[in-house]
Order: sequence, then structure tokens, then C-alpha cells
Amino acid sequence: MITKYVSMTEDNIDAKAIEDAGEILKAGGLVAFPTETVYGLGGDALNPKSSMKIYAAKGRPSDNPLIVHICRLEDTERIAASVPESYYKLAKAFWPGPMTIILNKSDIVPIETTGGLGTVAIRFPSNRIAHALIEAGGGFIAAPSANRSGRPSPTLAKYCREDLDGRVEMIIDGGQVAIGVESSIIDLTEERPVILRPGYITEEMFDNVLGNVDIDRTIIAPDSKIKPKAPGMKYRHYAPKGDLKIVAGPQGKVVDYINKAVAEASEKGEKTGIICTDETRALYRADSIKSAGTRTDEESIAKELFRVLREFDDEQVTVMYSESFDKSGIGMAVMNRLMKAAGQQVIDLSK
Ligand code: TXA
Ligand code: MG
Repeated sequence: MITKYVSMTEDNIDAKAIEDAGEILKAGGLVAFPTETVYGLGGDALNPKSSMKIYAAKGRPSDNPLIVHICRLEDTERIAASVPESYYKLAKAFWPGPMTIILNKSDIVPIETTGGLGTVAIRFPSNRIAHALIEAGGGFIAAPSANRSGRPSPTLAKYCREDLDGRVEMIIDGGQVAIGVESSIIDLTEERPVILRPGYITEEMFDNVLGNVDIDRTIIAPDSKIKPKAPGMKYRHYAPKGDLKIVAGPQGKVVDYINKAVAEASEKGEKTGIICTDETRALYRADSIKSAGTRTDEESIAKELFRVLREFDDEQVTVMYSESFDKSGIGMAVMNRLMKAAGQQVIDLSK
């Protein structure tokens, strides 16, 4: 298959290209497109064959359900068996935007799309290119992140090309995404709402709208033996090809530890990398030193983290150390992804 490339901006949408993309989706083909969180790999959510193609293109296990993207709130009623009041409260507060809600599915949603589950994940993204595409494609677009399974989610179209060239009909380049980590997922099918994946919408923000929400324990204690409720959270995601460890504790101790560990690894012939922040960058020595952003702006770190992980792969770095980041706000999502990338390896120097 030859992948077609188009590019546009949210302020200058190429109507003809969107129309073409909509035709591809309606015919059962696949289109990668930007959203405000990460790039998505879109297919018609109501067509079981499209969902099967998504799993194949990503190399993703087909028990890992897809998120259905909508562009009109009222369309919820077509894909959900029933819609609780809490859904509309959350929609009013955070949609269009970086939130995904789980409801019980209606019959028109094929189990291929939901990975065999009786529930459906619904998201109404704010990116205007995504919005136009969903509308052109028939209103219900299944879209996981547009990476090959196991790789970091793409925050730039060039990473979609790296992973999916020749595997999808079209890739829409809409520039760098605004947020950089995937949507927050909240499950409304249980007695109490449960956060299944942390993202830009934080536990505190959910609490403010719904009162007390629970958080899936596997997010907080990832090494526990409990099975995560979002099937995708069980996979070792975002894993760089080299070995990554996180070092936590007071800044001076962390810098000394990392520099020493990197020097030792270098001596053994490893190619070394460090993930740090603008504040500490000048303090390190390694083959590749990358700042993910500034500690005064946690959102800058969210935006760059996946790019940094991919660049280490491109540079064939074999041993990496990362500083640890504050878990407040979007930091919870950043640390959740970083911990997965590190296979939960943390060196804690705080005691
Ligand atoms: O920001 C995002 O959510 C991006 C953009 C493209 O919208 N999409 C995304 O999709 O991150 P994906 O497939 O990479 O991650 C979806 C996660 C997986 O962990 C999956 O297991 C979970 O959502 N999920 C989907 N449907 C579910 C369901 N019915 N019940 C529980 N978890 C579900
Ligand atoms: Mg993903």
C-alpha cells in the first residue's frame, strides 16, 4: 500500500483532503490524524473489518479495545446502551477535550472495536482537524494512538510515518500535538466512577465535577499483581529499546548518582542518555542529554516526553537514566508513562 501524505493546520483546514480522508474511512480504510493529545490511527468504529485492520497495522493484540471518537455529543446515545447524568456533567466540563469515558455499549458497536468487551470508550476531541475528519468519516471513528504497538505514542506526524508508512491509506500532518500524553480515561459503568488512565484531566478535576472518584490501583501501585481495568494499561508501553531507569530524590544526589552511573556504563562501552530538565541540563555528562522541559511548567514535560524517548531509539542509546518528576497535576500522567517506559525501575535516593 502506498500511504498518501497531506498536511494542514487547525486554522487552515484542507477541505478537499478531509473529504478524501472521509471517503477512505467510509470505505473501510485507515487514516492517521492529529488530536490534542497524541496522533490517532482512525478507522470506521462501526465496521468490524476496519477495527481488525487497525489491530493489524499497529501489531496490537485484538483484546485491547479501541476508543470511539465522536464529534457531536448527541451521537453518544447511538453507541451507548444508557447514558448516566454523570456523563453529561463530565462532557460539559471537559469536552471537547482530552478525556475518554467508558459506558456500556449499544448493539451497533462491534465487539471487534471493543476488544470483546460489553463496554465502549468514548472521546470527543477538541483538535479541529480531528473534528472535521470524524464528521467526514461518518461520526464514529475508532482510534488508538498511531504508533506500532509498544512504541511511544506519536506527538508528531513524522513518527506516524516511521511506524505506519505503507500500512495505512493516509497520514494527516497537523504539526506537533498540544498536550503530548494520551487522554484521561474514566469508567462510569461501576457504582463509583473510576479513573483508569491518568492524563491532562486530573483526579482533582474529576472530583470537582463528580464528587469522590476512585483511581484504578494499578496506576498507583503498578507492580502489584492486580489486573488493570483498561486492558491496554497492562502492556509494557513506550518501552525504549535501551535500558531506562528513573532516579528520584534531592537534586544534588540525583545528579551525582546519574553522572557516576553513566560514567560506569560508558566504560563498559554502552551508549548513554539522560532525561533531565532545563534546570539541570548543564550539570550532566553523557553521550546524549535531553531536557524534557522546565520544572516550572509540568505541561512542557508532558509535551516532549514521547519525542525524547523516540530520539534515544533513533540514536541507538543503550543505557538511559531519567530524573523523576513531580506527580501533581499532569505530572501524574507523565510519571505513569515514564514508569512504564522504565519497566518500573526506580532508584530512590530520598531516604
Ligand atoms: O488520547 C487518546 O486517548 C488517544 C487519541 C488518539 O485519542 N488514543 C489512545 O488510544 O490513547 P489507545 O488505544 O492507545 O489507548 C486506549 C486505552 C487502552 O489502554 C485501552 O485498553 C483502553 O483505552 N480502553 C479502550 N476501551 C476500553 C474499555 N471499553 N474499557 C476499558 N478500557 C478501555
Ligand atoms: Mg496507545
